[in-house]
Amino acid sequence: MYSRLLERDCVKFRFEGVLNKSEASLLKDDFKRNGNHINGTIVLDFARLKRILDYNAAGELIECLYLLKKRGAPFAITGINSDIKRVLSMIGVNSLFGISSDVEDSQNGGSMSSLLHMPVMESEVTKYLIKDTGGVYIDCTLGGGGHAAAILKVLSPGGRLIGIDRDKDAIDIARRRFCGKDNRIDILRDNYTNLRSLLNGLKIKGVDGILLDAGLSSIQIEKQGRGFSFQRDEPLDMRMDRTYGKTAADLVNELKESEIKGILIEYGEERFAGRISREICKKRRFSRISTTMELAEIVSSAVPVRNWPKKIHPATRTFQALRIAVNDELNNIEKVIFEGVQALKPLGRFCIITFHSLEDRIVKNTFALLQKGCTCPVDMPVCACGKKPLLKVITKKPLKTSDKEVMLNPKARSAKLRVAERLVKDVTHSC
Ligand SMILES: C[S@@+](CC[C@H](N)C(=O)[O-])C[C@H]1O[C@@H](n2cnc3c(N)ncnc32)[C@H](O)[C@@H]1O
Repeated sequence: MYSRLLERDCVKFRFEGVLNKSEASLLKDDFKRNGNHINGTIVLDFARLKRILDYNAAGELIECLYLLKKRGAPFAITGINSDIKRVLSMIGVNSLFGISSDVEDSQNGGSMSSLLHMPVMESEVTKYLIKDTGGVYIDCTLGGGGHAAAILKVLSPGGRLIGIDRDKDAIDIARRRFCGKDNRIDILRDNYTNLRSLLNGLKIKGVDGILLDAGLSSIQIEKQGRGFSFQRDEPLDMRMDRTYGKTAADLVNELKESEIKGILIEYGEERFAGRISREICKKRRFSRISTTMELAEIVSSAVPVRNWPKKIHPATRTFQALRIAVNDELNNIEKVIFEGVQALKPLGRFCIITFHSLEDRIVKNTFALLQKGCTCPVDMPVCACGKKPLLKVITKKPLKTSDKEVMLNPKARSAKLRVAERLVKDVTHSC
């Protein structure tokens, strides 16, 4: 449990005994509602805390720490025993709270930390991806640079990493994090589906490994004005690359009802796609739907309350579907596998982390197709397509996050890692 004590120049949150999930949630709500109004330093005093009950409690506590960090004002953590220290140090709390201006987002006036995005399955990624520490690797989804930092840690001075992201914020953060500090990394702002032309530009003939960590980074979700989240009211944008393509607002206001329904079914697996798309089209007749909350409210009103999902907001699937459509996420994953396999050297590795079944299915099926080679119908007596196997799947079943990792980073709970290796024969590098 915790209590709040007002001291001379600080507000102290004192923890005692065992911290369970509901206590940690109360604290989180307290920070959410009141954090910005507290003047002076916030002190978290763990001296009397014996233990954090379980991973749910730890997850909530971690989110409290993020909120504190985001608040930008001074705070201190005191009285940490070895158990709690272990939990906190495992989530990178030292670096999280020790970070300085190199990761501050001055444009936003807030503190956007690259470390707010915790890389998922970091040790599994480096283990499966890096066979030659002096090799050339690609991180297709640089994000906050968490995986990139882990890869650079393992690479020898002769190794090289190409980091790609289509999001300007991610690129800015990665540049501030690495440029001038590590000359083994090239940072490129582009769509990863252009991987081979990017390698051509760098005169790289083949690479030893490619990492793709699909989906959004916490930075994108948490930064204001991106339109990915319905937790705040903001323009309904959702583009990872804000210089290109239609926004989510464009889609909901311009597509036909049947097209919106199709997106919600295909990318959101939304049971109430028909009702939601109908309601969207009804509402947009009066005025353009332009913010996240407007859309969330329309979706909530379209789904009967008795059918609201228990664990997620009724608009979650709609937001997921629109985000996937806006950024063409699933097609991009498929394309980059076909592109990447051509860029891999023999025995080079492809590691892909996905966060939901739609993404994972694409990776699984595309890897399987490239492992099989021939695409002729099964009843053809001889192969007419002439396609040869290019990959060997290393992970028959996807690797999943450990309980320990989920405890430290609850957002990693649904992550799956699949790994495939370029075959030695029939190498046809074309970059
Ligand atoms: C889950 S985050 C990656 C986080 C990163 N691995 C880390 O440890 O910080 C996914 C990132 O991929 C980027 N991304 C998604 N699709 C992309 C694409 N087609 N081309 C380039 N970057 C893309 C997003 O902008 C986002 O920054």
